[in-house]
Amino acid sequence: MEKEEILIIDFGGQYNQLIARRVREKNVFCEVVPHTVSIEKIKEKDPKGIIFTGGPSSIYASDAPKCDERVFELGVPILGICYGMQFMAYTLGGDVKRADKREYGQMEVKLNNKSKLFKGFEDTNICLMSHTDYVDILPEGFKNIASSNTCKIAAMENVEKDFYGVQFHPEVNHTIDGDKIIENFVIDICGCKALWKMDYFTINTIEKLKEKIKDKKALCALSGGVDSSVAAVLLSKAIGNNLTCIFVDHGLLRKNEVEEVEKIFTEKFDVNFVKVDARERFLKKLKGVTSPEKKRKIIGEEFIRVFEEEAKKIGKVDYLVQGTIYPDVIESGLGKSSVIKSHHNVGGLPEHVDFKEIVEPLRDLFKDEVRKVGKEVGLPDYLVNRQPFPGPGLAIRIIGDKKKKKLDILKDADYIFRDEISKSNLDKELSQYFAVLTDTRSVGVMGDERTYDYMVALRAVITDDFMTAKFAQIPYDVLDRVSKRIVNEVEHVNRIVYDITSKPPATIEWE
Ligand code: XMP
Repeated sequence: MEKEEILIIDFGGQYNQLIARRVREKNVFCEVVPHTVSIEKIKEKDPKGIIFTGGPSSIYASDAPKCDERVFELGVPILGICYGMQFMAYTLGGDVKRADKREYGQMEVKLNNKSKLFKGFEDTNICLMSHTDYVDILPEGFKNIASSNTCKIAAMENVEKDFYGVQFHPEVNHTIDGDKIIENFVIDICGCKALWKMDYFTINTIEKLKEKIKDKKALCALSGGVDSSVAAVLLSKAIGNNLTCIFVDHGLLRKNEVEEVEKIFTEKFDVNFVKVDARERFLKKLKGVTSPEKKRKIIGEEFIRVFEEEAKKIGKVDYLVQGTIYPDVIESGLGKSSVIKSHHNVGGLPEHVDFKEIVEPLRDLFKDEVRKVGKEVGLPDYLVNRQPFPGPGLAIRIIGDKKKKKLDILKDADYIFRDEISKSNLDKELSQYFAVLTDTRSVGVMGDERTYDYMVALRAVITDDFMTAKFAQIPYDVLDRVSKRIVNEVEHVNRIVYDITSKPPATIEWE
């Protein structure tokens, strides 16, 4: 495949991943790199264009993020967004000033639609502004190509050098048709041909894996989630039964999940599939444990132990396969991490497994791209479109002590909820939906009998990034059906509640 890349230089803005998404949506490959990236590294990547992101700093702050100024000498088109525009203006000899107050919100901006950047626009557009500093004097060779009532220079260009800056944020939906500005930049100005398509990626990746691994052996920890399943299938297409997949059944998966994963990987793909029944082992370890953090730690560690034991039986392998995807790379690369919960991803690195190298075939892809590859390689829709499921599984959805009986109650209740959501065609709209078994029991009446049974909570959220989320406004009749079915079909449940908190202040999972 012909090489074609846009490099996104990160100055710390909150929408950086969105910029990358927008570029990828135009079928152009891009990477986000920190502003400290060396000029040699940039040259090595040989990008067709560069985008500077926004960021919270003022260019005059002592710790203001900057990148190597030689980036302006590469002869490559550059688009600076918000802080990125100010950095460009300041570095090239313009002047940046601080306004008395911050400008935030959707503003009407007058655009010079003769500029290549604004091709196809009317002469005004609604754009999202979010800044205090602004460009006051343009650098030499630049022209003002946009303005609003409050911002005199809302965009600038130097057509000779193909340098552009916008004070607003084209990457967010609040800027109407903002993605068209990104398209004008990457396609018309940088000359990208939109080569980044998932079928190319799939064929190319399988070929590369074949070349790299040859007749050596690889090992994959399969969780049944989308990422590890897609990674395993790519490997299986490349090296067939030189791949061994280890699937640890810790008993904390959803109803029918173990059977579904086993069926796919034993019937559809030519791999060595090892299912480890570790249900008793995990339940024993979790006995009496009620602290959410402790549960997470125990499950994470135990998972690695089981995986190591199985791997040892196989002996030395050359490659360990991981389903790392691009958001994982960006987050760890830039040192952002959550301290709210210790997230555990099945497939974390075991220490005592004898392997030479890690293979991460999905490390350049976003989740929806991984799903496209999954479809491409023949994974069934229900697996590819799965909602996220946490590594510690149902353990963090049973409040308090875990007992086999409680697990069975939760699995059945959760299954009914998912079934009704899917029958109501709400599954595409909801980002995540599941049942939680609380440790509250309450009095009810069934027939003429008093009952004293568990309360199940239903949770459904809508979110893009899972960092914040809104509770979903599921129609009452759907909730009614779910509630009736659960109390009728699942023993020991006599009360259902719906969680109407958003994140923050709640988190999505209850533990
Ligand atoms: P919270 O509960 O933190 O969840 O709002 C945000 C998203 O992360 C998922 N989650 C996890 N995923 N290992 C995972 O792989 C974990 O330990 C874990 N804990 C939470 C959660 O399901 C939601 O999608």
